[in-house]
Amino acid sequence: MNKVEAQHSDIERVLLDDGVIQTRVRELGAQLTRDYEGKDLVMVGILKGSVIFLADLMKCVDLDFSIDFMSASSYANESSTGEVRLMLDLRESIQGKDVVIVEDIVDTGLTLKYLQENLRTREPKSLEICTILDKPDCRKVPVTPKYSGFKIPNEFVVGYGLDYNEYYRSLPYIGVLKPEAADRRKKIS
Ligand code: IMP
Ligand code: MG
Repeated sequence: MNKVEAQHSDIERVLLDDGVIQTRVRELGAQLTRDYEGKDLVMVGILKGSVIFLADLMKCVDLDFSIDFMSASSYANESSTGEVRLMLDLRESIQGKDVVIVEDIVDTGLTLKYLQENLRTREPKSLEICTILDKPDCRKVPVTPKYSGFKIPNEFVVGYGLDYNEYYRSLPYIGVLKPEAADRRKKIS
């Protein structure tokens, strides 16, 4: 065991611990293994939030497949409808491939709707979403992940790849920040 075991002092509450997450990731891996047997699977990780999930998940998919990465920035705020910009594109063509987008969280759905529409134009044979977290109450646009680890309420969470201003991604569990920690890590602009 080389993981950090103690709870970070900035975390108010752990929502999902390491063991619970790992069990669910194994289930999702088994599901993907069944569903993509005999197919030409490409798992597309969305940077940076999906890195820990993708690394764990891909070890649980007992098939030959490839991985690739994309990055998108969402400029959604309360008043706007949300603009999404592609920051990093795939290295390989996905034409005719069975693509699974691997994401950390579906919140408003704006990022994934944009990525889905963008990837569809490249004519994959199939296109699905696999997310570790889903906040269904927060949707501004309809996005339905076929593979979803946990549904959580409308709360800002960090850990297991998810950040607050780039901090806390490395925590092995998913938790809620203490308000004073959020204040301290606030972007100074
Ligand atoms: P969406 O476009 O609103 O669905 O969400 C896009 C991105 O917002 C996700 O990929 C995350 O990077 C970020 N995000 C949404 N909710 C949370 C959260 O609770 N914690 C950390 N990041 C979040
Ligand atoms: Mg993200």
